[in-house]
Amino acid sequence: MKTLMRILAVTAVAAGATVITGTGARAASVGEAGYVWNGAGGEEDEALGLKPDAKAGKDVFEVCSACHQPEGWGLSDGTFPQLAGQHYKVIIKQLSDIRARNRDNPTMYPFALPSQIGGPQAVADVAGYIQTLKMSPENGKGDGKDPELGKKLYADNCAKCHGASGEGDNDKFYPRIEAQHYAYLLRQFNDIKAGKRRNANPDMVKQIHDFTDRETHAVLDYVSRLVPPKEKVAPKGWKNPDFQ
Ligand code: HEC
Ligand code: HEC
Repeated sequence: MKTLMRILAVTAVAAGATVITGTGARAASVGEAGYVWNGAGGEEDEALGLKPDAKAGKDVFEVCSACHQPEGWGLSDGTFPQLAGQHYKVIIKQLSDIRARNRDNPTMYPFALPSQIGGPQAVADVAGYIQTLKMSPENGKGDGKDPELGKKLYADNCAKCHGASGEGDNDKFYPRIEAQHYAYLLRQFNDIKAGKRRNANPDMVKQIHDFTDRETHAVLDYVSRLVPPKEKVAPKGWKNPDFQ
């Protein structure tokens, strides 16, 4: 918390909104039934049309590192999600959704505002920096009680969007979910099911509508145990030299 207070003080002084207009690459995607989702435009579209500067993004990430950790690994108890490994467009979408209050995130909201970190260019830059981070070798896992059920449920209900190994899809805004902290997966899954993430894909909401508690635990335990490709994972005990 001490670091957080220090950062709060620093950013309060450095605050100053930057207004940058982008070329506006459309984010809108077409769902299964032909309807459009993620079509709100606004800051997400602006940020997607900009060229990220990862070096500037490193400075933005200092604020983020107070919670998401300097390595971008979050915490295994799921309080803070792992950001390392997440797709560029997914980071832009989620950060824009949090800033636009499409997601309820009162913990992060005050630190992620344009007055704190800047406008769409800062969103693109920090997403660019996050692309340089490798994933945690030790994420939080579920209880491992129902591996066969989890595997089957995943193949039948999730793989078509999140991919066979939970790798997601940058262009379609499908998050990488493999090796994310179990408790975080659980919270987000239930939020999406309950309609609390207001810019989520309606096809997923429909797909998981009838999941029981047992099925939810089983499928997310399975996801938390999926192993990302070796080249995406950092060595055990790695510390980010950018913030030493
Ligand atoms: C004060 C703590 C805090 C700070 C600082 C913070 N975050 Fe977060 N962030 C959170 C929490 C908590 C969540 C999960 C909220 C939830 O459960 O919905 C989150 C979620 C996210 C997500 C969604 C991840 C996903 O896969 O769903 C992204 C992206 C994100 N943060 C990026 C950032 C960036 C970029 C910064 C810096 C500009 C930042 N955060 C600063 C606490 C913080
Ligand atoms: C029709 C495509 C689709 C299907 C099927 C689907 N998802 Fe998703 N899922 C998405 C999209 C898109 C998002 C991002 C939502 C947003 O932008 O808020 C998402 C988000 C998530 C998240 C939150 C990740 C994060 O980092 O915030 C979890 C967890 C998740 N899905 C798990 C699952 C599981 C488990 C299944 C199968 C039981 C499943 N999904 C089926 C498209 C899908």
